[in-house]
Amino acid sequence: MAIDPKSFEAIADLAYRESGLQLVVEKASMIQSRLRHRLKAVGTDSFASYAELVCSDEGLDERRQMISALTTNVSHFFRESHHFELLGQKILPGLIDKLRAGRRFRVWSAGCSNGQEAYSIAMTMLETFPEMAKMDVKILATDIDPKVVSFGRSAVYPERLTTGIPKNLKDKYFSVQKGKEGDEYTASEALKSLVVFKELNLLSNWPMKQKMDVVFCRNVVIYFDADTQDRLWPRFHSLLNSDGHLFLGHSERISEPSNAGFINNGPTSYRPIVAKR
Ligand SMILES: C[S@@+](CC[C@H](N)C(=O)[O-])C[C@H]1O[C@@H](n2cnc3c(N)ncnc32)[C@H](O)[C@@H]1O
Repeated sequence: MAIDPKSFEAIADLAYRESGLQLVVEKASMIQSRLRHRLKAVGTDSFASYAELVCSDEGLDERRQMISALTTNVSHFFRESHHFELLGQKILPGLIDKLRAGRRFRVWSAGCSNGQEAYSIAMTMLETFPEMAKMDVKILATDIDPKVVSFGRSAVYPERLTTGIPKNLKDKYFSVQKGKEGDEYTASEALKSLVVFKELNLLSNWPMKQKMDVVFCRNVVIYFDADTQDRLWPRFHSLLNSDGHLFLGHSERISEPSNAGFINNGPTSYRPIVAKR
């Protein structure tokens, strides 16, 4: 059951329109294998009829399943650790007096996958200032893929997904129990209470009413083309507080930061340009 060029094009166009994902023809065999179980689930063995279904009005539910199957959800705890160091060593100490005086602090993990990034942010906060557990602090963790959002919300990680957590933090912030695949680690209530998980497509409207202090959008835009990326930067700029921070993944860059209102602040780290009065 191979994907024919017409069905590939229909699926690639749809994935691009719905989620910004760029499916290139060189990856056709990978896409074919990622979608094979979806074809089985809807009871067809033809990519042409699958493409017809997902492109139809009746295919709305399956469209979400298709995007979920096509996204790459690889992540791990404390990935690209320099951003967590910046958060713990510079950003939080610089704000702590204001936070103690009641200022709110909001972080967005945009494209959060299974939640490792959001819980790494939470651990960094609690390790830096344990009192943050009682402050007006929240981490919003969002992803287009409903499966990873509900996984993150469950906060239960099989051992293979816990790489990156230093042993002392694993002992302190996770409880261990036997699961189907061996040991499973559940995040503590202290971590869970800091993180709110929601399904959100970065290309759609953002419902957030409050400004963000830090946005982690790492290893997400790499799957988007330059136009889609360039439409995102000013939106992040509008959402960030003037003293905020934007972190991207190791192979992601804002091509013209000043056009989007940002200045570079170290590797894959940006700050909004503050207008001079
Ligand atoms: C490789 S993971 C990155 C996870 C984490 N940020 C990290 O750096 O480890 C990319 C995530 O982006 C999500 N994603 C892809 N397109 C998206 C979109 N249009 N809106 C929201 N999330 C999207 C995928 O579902 C996936 O979970």
